[in-house]
Amino acid sequence: MNVQTARHTADATTVEEGLAIQERQAVMDSEAATAVAMQNTLLTPRFYTTDFDKLDAVDVTPVRKDWDELLAEMERDPNRGHFKKNADWDHIDWEGMDPELRKEFIDFLISSCTAEFSGCVLYKEMKRRGSNKDITQLFAYMSRDEARHAGFINDALREAGIAVNLGFLTKAKKYTYFQPKFIYYATYLSEKIGYARYITIFRHLEKHPEHRFHPIFKWFREWCNDEFRHGEAFALLMKADPRLTRGINVFWIKFFLTAVFATMWVRDHQRPAFHAALGVDPSWYGQEVFRKTSEISRQVFPITLDIDHPAWIPTLNRLERANRRIDAARKAGGPGGFVGRMLGSAQAALAFLRLLAIPAVRNTVPASTRLQPAY
Ligand SMILES: [Fe+2]
Ligand SMILES: [Fe+2]
Repeated sequence: MNVQTARHTADATTVEEGLAIQERQAVMDSEAATAVAMQNTLLTPRFYTTDFDKLDAVDVTPVRKDWDELLAEMERDPNRGHFKKNADWDHIDWEGMDPELRKEFIDFLISSCTAEFSGCVLYKEMKRRGSNKDITQLFAYMSRDEARHAGFINDALREAGIAVNLGFLTKAKKYTYFQPKFIYYATYLSEKIGYARYITIFRHLEKHPEHRFHPIFKWFREWCNDEFRHGEAFALLMKADPRLTRGINVFWIKFFLTAVFATMWVRDHQRPAFHAALGVDPSWYGQEVFRKTSEISRQVFPITLDIDHPAWIPTLNRLERANRRIDAARKAGGPGGFVGRMLGSAQAALAFLRLLAIPAVRNTVPASTRLQPAY
């Protein structure tokens, strides 16, 4: 297809094109969905910015061979045209859907769309500001992919009569600054956990198609391969500078692993109807995803979290209860709500510290980093 004629985000070959298509559709986008995407709490997806000059100065020479192979794979663009409704896209009766499920599923779609778009915005900015060809190429491919992902989720939302206004989000949402090494840890993990989440649901629904209550899950396998590749890129960036995974940075790795896993646990447990419809126990799902992510992250991280430690699950559950208390207090408002929020936050902080105190498992990082998606 000619680049100029792409009418759908799935066929867009650059991030600019993908975003322009979504901009044209934005007239139909709903304020409510955008308001949800605008939220900035500890648990909602954020937008990030970083020291782009520092990132631009990265030298990938130590991982050149793997780097070139990965970039060639991204250039081949195996998923071009994939993220588009086709004959496999079953009709969804949004009106007839159980209201609780509908609410949680829409919340899931909005937060997934925001997370995809958060990657898109960060990667696009890096591509725009950089002059190092290795770096700008990588970020061009990754932002292209994330624009398609966000566009596809917005297609699904539009059928329910809502969509997230991505153009507005770019301008209005608050950006959190992270120095490049924290971007590496956080983004590497969110790409790899994204892969593990999508593939676990995909494999589960392969075995139990009766639980596939929406067609978007059929797209998850190719989808998660994009996320896997993105994660590979960050693994190579970290591998190129061994200081990033040594000394005090081992603590930061543990911190990010704990924060990313704990956030997933809390958020997923807030969507009981969604997981019941999928036929998935959120605790089983959480542990399964943590196990896969840990296994993958051994490619570059010198530690993994001890997710079989006797305090792990009980403390995650405590954290989840504390978050529910904060939520309820926020809704209640007034002086009582304020006290409740403070108490809940203190409990959440203590639970998080307890998770951090669980000794990590040491790991010997292999000489070669590259992995292929294996689940
Ligand atoms: Fe994505
Ligand atoms: Fe990604």
